[in-house]
Amino acid sequence: MSKILVTGCAGFIGSTLTERLLQDGLQVIGIDCFTTNYDREVKKRNLRWLIQQPRFHFLEQDLLTTDFNLILDGVDTIFHLAALPGVRTSWGADFRAYVDNNILTTQRLLESVKERTSIKKLVFSSSSSVYGGMNGPTAEDQIPRPISPYGVTKLSAEQLCGLYHKNFGVPVNSLRYFTVFGPRQRPDMAFHRMIHRILREEPIPIYGDGQQSRDFTFVEDAVTANLLAAHSSVTGEVFNIGGISHLTINEAVQLMEKQTQKKAIRNFLPAQAGDPKHTWADISKARNILGYKPTFDVEKGIFLQIEEIKQLIKQ
Ligand code: NAD
Ligand code: UGA
Repeated sequence: MSKILVTGCAGFIGSTLTERLLQDGLQVIGIDCFTTNYDREVKKRNLRWLIQQPRFHFLEQDLLTTDFNLILDGVDTIFHLAALPGVRTSWGADFRAYVDNNILTTQRLLESVKERTSIKKLVFSSSSSVYGGMNGPTAEDQIPRPISPYGVTKLSAEQLCGLYHKNFGVPVNSLRYFTVFGPRQRPDMAFHRMIHRILREEPIPIYGDGQQSRDFTFVEDAVTANLLAAHSSVTGEVFNIGGISHLTINEAVQLMEKQTQKKAIRNFLPAQAGDPKHTWADISKARNILGYKPTFDVEKGIFLQIEEIKQLIKQ
């Protein structure tokens, strides 16, 4: 890797990845258009350190309209994270924005890299939501059956990557992350909302009975997976990127209580359409082919996220 493009560089995972790349001494172009899924100021805060680095060049541009020809010269590696995430909000009128930001952006990017032999690797951020529900550790060969509109758009984008690999040799790998957490987590996600409210002694919303489970992945492990996928000699592959810890939301809340030394006020609400009951990653393929080995368990990760949120509350 010598010159890198990161799409979605102001977001949760994209900004953490960009930080790692710059710390590794690499040159990075970052694109983001501050979509309105959460406060623009939060995304600007994610960029604060990055934009002070001489090897970082930030472009406030929308992938739906940007001219990739003006950007891709000299770029050899692309990490494509820009998307509209969020499972539960993908119903109704907002679906158009999911199609635009998840499918059309990816198709535009693939069109512009398909003739460029200078691109050595494209790493696409896919999602465990392509699967739908899971009853145990699930490998990549399970037939995807998304149960949310968001999952449908991520699967479409992932399959477009596969098509451009097969037909034009685009050197792409897709990473299906499982519920990523840690500092900078999006404000709509469970851990962020819950830790904030527990610290403020406000009620926390729990959808359903709290017995749904997730394979929680710490953000630095997801970042490492991106680097491994970029350095790997394989292309055209899809990998599950999960964490060390699989637990229920109720168990996660108990951990938050223990670490904050505060009692959570549980507000049980109806289960949400589109939410899988369980997700559980079989990461054998990523371990065997990429050498991926998650290192942060949920206890350590929640501790780091609590420390971050305490600082945010103080500001
Ligand atoms: P995020 O919303 O924090 O980051 C996405 C960034 O992309 C945002 O800053 C947004 O402004 C930008 N963006 C969106 N559309 C754009 C466009 N058209 N042009 C330019 N910029 C645009 O989300 P995140 O949680 O960091 O997710 C990053 C990626 O990982 C997404 O592709 C998401 O689907 C995927 N993913 C996330 C998780 C998770 O648990 N966070 C799990 C699985 C997959
Ligand atoms: C997360 C990301 O938000 C998606 O972008 C991503 O694609 C997906 O992971 C994935 O793995 O592919 P999700 O698992 O819904 O989606 O992540 P959280 O928002 O952290 O929710 C986890 C669980 O907590 C869900 O069952 C949700 O219903 C529940 N939850 C969430 C609550 O009970 N209360 C809340 O306030 C928020």
